[in-house]
Amino acid sequence: MAEQAAVPATAREWHLAARPQGWPVPADFALVEAPVRTPGPGEILVRNAYLSVDPYMRGRMNDVKSYVPPFRLGQAMDGGAVGYVVASGAEGFAPGDAVLHGLGWREYATLDAAHAVKVDPEVAPLSAYLGVLGMPGLTAYAGLLAVGGFKEGDKVFVSGAAGAVGSLVGQIARIKGASLVVGSAGSERKVATLVDEFGFDAAFNYKDAPVAEQLAAAAPEGIDLYFDNVGGDHLEAAIGALNVHGRAVLCGAIAQYNDTSAPAAPRNLALAIGKRLRLEGMLVRDHAGLQQQFVAEMAGWLKSGELRTEETVVDGFENAAEAFLDLLRGVNTGKMVVRLDG
Ligand SMILES: NC(=O)c1ccc[n+]([C@@H]2O[C@H](COP(=O)([O-])OP(=O)(O)OC[C@H]3O[C@@H](n4cnc5c(N)ncnc54)[C@H](OP(=O)(O)O)[C@@H]3O)[C@@H](O)[C@H]2O)c1
Repeated sequence: MAEQAAVPATAREWHLAARPQGWPVPADFALVEAPVRTPGPGEILVRNAYLSVDPYMRGRMNDVKSYVPPFRLGQAMDGGAVGYVVASGAEGFAPGDAVLHGLGWREYATLDAAHAVKVDPEVAPLSAYLGVLGMPGLTAYAGLLAVGGFKEGDKVFVSGAAGAVGSLVGQIARIKGASLVVGSAGSERKVATLVDEFGFDAAFNYKDAPVAEQLAAAAPEGIDLYFDNVGGDHLEAAIGALNVHGRAVLCGAIAQYNDTSAPAAPRNLALAIGKRLRLEGMLVRDHAGLQQQFVAEMAGWLKSGELRTEETVVDGFENAAEAFLDLLRGVNTGKMVVRLDG
């Protein structure tokens, strides 16, 4: 029997109203009032406290086959969320428990408890489970160490460096003994944060001058490892700067997510042959085996103060679509999350 708490009859959820053509616009999203379903046996009802907005969601707005299915038109979108159980029909879950799950973009979620993970708000603020201790954190950790094969002394360049993943990649590289950490980001404030807060050796604003020029100045002896969040001219510049036997982790290509035609760069991919480069794509979901090691190391660095994080918190469920658009526009530093009203 489901244990009952005060459950509203209806609550709001965000639907995909139209598939974006190029850059998404507010009219592509619709805020809809929908019934809240009472949990059955094995299910929980969660009042979401924070929702994640992530770049990969842009891909899910297109009607194309990919590693995650597209969002369906006229239906609630989904994505990472953390919240509190308000009613439970599942053994081991009680009202008040904090959980991480995949039914974001809505105020209340009814789901199979097998798809929720309990999290401890005493160990870290709830939103950290969507960022540094969550999917972006594991992406940074596994991408740099397992996929990129980071070695002490490596010279590392990371793009999207002030974002959720990038800010952690650069710091993990620094903590693990990189001889140079360079980051690129899209504003003067972000560039200053990279150096002053996150301890990067050098950083530049990719909007100021060609990436290749600025990277050559920041890393005159070249780079050994490139963590790519951006694609396009960033990847081209990195291929040019990589030393022999260099490695590139292809994590994301956000510069292309709203493009309607094929990218112009990289034009120098053939350099990968002579330099014997290794360019490897990654998906975070392949690295669940590192979860325990990742949480233990990250939590330790957070506690010691070696690892710093910033979050960009947007208040109000009704602002979630705008928060997603702002993420694509680069408004965020660190993880972008939406905080729901208490
Ligand atoms: N492969 C995987 O499993 C996996 C998992 C998680 C994330 N990712 C990828 O990792 C990347 C970072 O994700 P995240 O969650 O950490 O997002 P994020 O970096 O926190 O946010 C996105 C950032 O991208 C930057 N950006 C937007 N348009 C750009 C452009 N044209 N050129 C350069 N930068 C641009 C913006 O910062 P600026 O102000 O610096 O432009 C924005 O803040 C994305 O490409 C994402 O798809 C991949």
